[in-house]
Amino acid sequence: MAHVARCWMVVVVVGLTCTTASHGRLTPRVSFPIDGSGNSVRVTAHFSDVENATTLLLSDDGATLYAGARDAILSLNVHQSGVLTLKQKLEWAPPTKDVTTCQGRWGGKGMLNCHNYILLEHLNATHLYVCGTHAFQPHDTIIDIETLTHLRKPAGAKGRCPFTPEERNTAISVDGEMYVATISDYMRKTPSVSRFLSRNGRVDVSLDNPMKVLQEPTFIKSSAIPGDEKVYFFFSETGNEYNFMSKLTVSRVAQVCKDDVGGEFVLQKRWTTFAKAQLVCQQGEGLPFNILHDIVPVSEGDSSKDITFYGVFRSQWSLTSGVSAVCAFKLQDIKTAFSRSYRKWSGDRYTSQTEKNIQFGKCDLANNTQGLGLVKDTFLAENVQTKDNMVLLSPDQTYSRVVGQQTQAANGQAYTVLFLLSESGYLHKVVLLKGGPHIIEEIQVFRSPQTVKNIILSASIGMVFVGSPEGISQVPVSNCSFHQTCAECVLARDPFCGWDPTNGVCARVSDILSDVRQDVEHGNVTEQCKTTVSEKGPQEIEFYQELNRLTVLLCPTLSSQSLLTWRFSNNTHLPPAIFLQPGDNSLVFAGSPLTVGRYVCMSEERGFEQTLGIFSVKLRISEIKPTSVQVYTTSQSGKHTPTTTAGKTSPTSEQSPGHTTSTRTQTGHTVVTQEPKGYVITTQMENAALNKASEVVSVKSYYGELVAVSILLAICMLMLAGLYMWHLRSLRRATLSFGKEKEPSLGKTDT
Ligand SMILES: *[C@@H]1O[C@H](CO)[C@@H](O)[C@H](O)[C@H]1NC(C)=O
Ligand SMILES: *[C@@H]1O[C@H](CO)[C@@H](O)[C@H](O)[C@H]1NC(C)=O
Ligand SMILES: *[C@@H]1O[C@H](CO)[C@@H](O)[C@H](O)[C@H]1NC(C)=O
Ligand SMILES: *[C@@H]1O[C@H](CO)[C@@H](O)[C@H](O)[C@H]1NC(C)=O
Repeated sequence: MAHVARCWMVVVVVGLTCTTASHGRLTPRVSFPIDGSGNSVRVTAHFSDVENATTLLLSDDGATLYAGARDAILSLNVHQSGVLTLKQKLEWAPPTKDVTTCQGRWGGKGMLNCHNYILLEHLNATHLYVCGTHAFQPHDTIIDIETLTHLRKPAGAKGRCPFTPEERNTAISVDGEMYVATISDYMRKTPSVSRFLSRNGRVDVSLDNPMKVLQEPTFIKSSAIPGDEKVYFFFSETGNEYNFMSKLTVSRVAQVCKDDVGGEFVLQKRWTTFAKAQLVCQQGEGLPFNILHDIVPVSEGDSSKDITFYGVFRSQWSLTSGVSAVCAFKLQDIKTAFSRSYRKWSGDRYTSQTEKNIQFGKCDLANNTQGLGLVKDTFLAENVQTKDNMVLLSPDQTYSRVVGQQTQAANGQAYTVLFLLSESGYLHKVVLLKGGPHIIEEIQVFRSPQTVKNIILSASIGMVFVGSPEGISQVPVSNCSFHQTCAECVLARDPFCGWDPTNGVCARVSDILSDVRQDVEHGNVTEQCKTTVSEKGPQEIEFYQELNRLTVLLCPTLSSQSLLTWRFSNNTHLPPAIFLQPGDNSLVFAGSPLTVGRYVCMSEERGFEQTLGIFSVKLRISEIKPTSVQVYTTSQSGKHTPTTTAGKTSPTSEQSPGHTTSTRTQTGHTVVTQEPKGYVITTQMENAALNKASEVVSVKSYYGELVAVSILLAICMLMLAGLYMWHLRSLRRATLSFGKEKEPSLGKTDT
């Protein structure tokens, strides 16, 4: 019983180690849990009467945030301090009679859906286009951006707005005209891609539905690049060009020309320039990541040619569930795809031959009746050709949303930084380096997994906003001051942050006047911090340990990418029979004359070695308290010694030590790592498993116990390793056989 309990405890630790160790470089270097220190998330808009604030929109100057919520529209002032304050609010709920009708029709489901879930889009400098699900009867209106007052009475908006809040749709305005892709019925039968509010007497244009141009699409995003003559829509749909037994989903980009007004005799009020092409996200011969979840354009140069779209993809095959990938598509490659050969739609399938014609994918066809006859049923272009476009493959994160920007490092080199929101509620900040992606940090945004509808990034104010049913959170794109030493600042490899040797702080590169210490590509501390080596090391912690009492020393490391070693009394060998290193950053032992001495915890990262903790352990013979455990850690630099907590954390104090202020988690081991800046934390762990174990075992000496735990640990590790290997092997086997079936015809077009 006791052994079982202990093994369970140890397994938790080993399990964590397994997951962090096996994915090497793609582990976030630093993790900021929501309650831990350094987490810079502000949940700012949590107004009690406003729920489901899920569409977000920023004003051009970044000073105002607009939120479409449930039955309300808000405008909020954005302050640099990280606080959002309410500016204006417009209530827009469906009339009671409509809600009653809706609830009568939809029963239980109606309680949630018979509201008005509101979507927003900029229309022009003075007005917003607003549409809502309006109790299953989509309505839209136009409101004044300042006063949030209606310009006109809300009117039915079937085909412009989804029926339910779960349905994804996409809208964008170009020169005051709206381009929208949505599903125009609640049976999900009729997709619609249209332009309305057309100006200067132009006709509104829509898609020729009976042609089955689109097959059960899910619309993700749309994009209009200034200076480009086209509007692009990103979506996934059933790939009818593949003859598979089961439905195959493919991701696509579609184009329409901004100047399209439909044909004169053929395709009246219909798109004459609609064309689509497949976006392939696949590594080598592996299973493709075929379902697009989000995509964002990032400007990687001065001209509109330098736009790259970064898309988050997942796979249709649940074999790799929990796995997602990020693929890059250059605007130029998309344009090229639309100017090459096309396949013709014969009413129920695509021809296998491709054709080339000067008219395909071209704008300005309105008066070319012959050309229109051609493009009417020829709208599938060849795949967007991109080689090695997978920039990130995550083995364990289900990413659902992405935003990104390019930023200039101290040496003038430009880096693309992506913020990827995972379904677990963490925001991953990733920089794309020459040698591959580097996850600078992860920040927990939500306590529990949320269905996030919207995430936006404002490069001008340096903020990421995340809208969820819970509220609106905002995260600064960087918080350089978190890193307190030159070494930490350089090792972070954050292109936003550099060490300022003049002021001795880690700061935003743009705020440092000269002599910035930064090495985004390699994180070479020795090179960058050579004149600042006088940095203070950790203070030595001296304490008395009681005989037979279990002690846990914690090395205060932040980085998951550093290698830790413990040194004992100048002797690098720690006898394994006495010392237990569970694989996190701790050292565990029972007090005995053999364990008296000096302990040093060293870390090595990117070739740089530093001392993180020094403990001087002495022995005090006193009454045995078998249920208590001492945990010690130390601060990294003497800088942040919290004098106020000194009383309750004094290691030599006679009475039993008080509780730490940090949060407690199940295993106790993570307790102190979340407060790595603390001076000394001595705690009597109330670990249920440990207590239970100790109660049952009534031996005085714990030496034997320790040996038993060591053996159990070894067994547990072996079992876990075995299980893991077995899991890997079966997964590989399954993938291989699956790959064989599906692979040959995927991602390639017959020519
Ligand atoms: C940045 O980090 C420091 C140190 O952890 C913290 O005190 C500060 O509040 C953070 N700043 C923001 C804007 O979150
Ligand atoms: C924006 O659009 C609205 C509605 O069409 C119109 O009344 C207003 O004048 C437009 N504003 C500008 C600046 O074009
Ligand atoms: C098409 O022809 C009509 C009249 O024949 C003309 O007014 C219009 O400008 C032409 N459109 C384009 C796009 O050339
Ligand atoms: C709206 O928010 C509530 C909780 O605040 C959540 O339970 C519900 O699922 C949300 N509805 C939608 C459609 O997101």
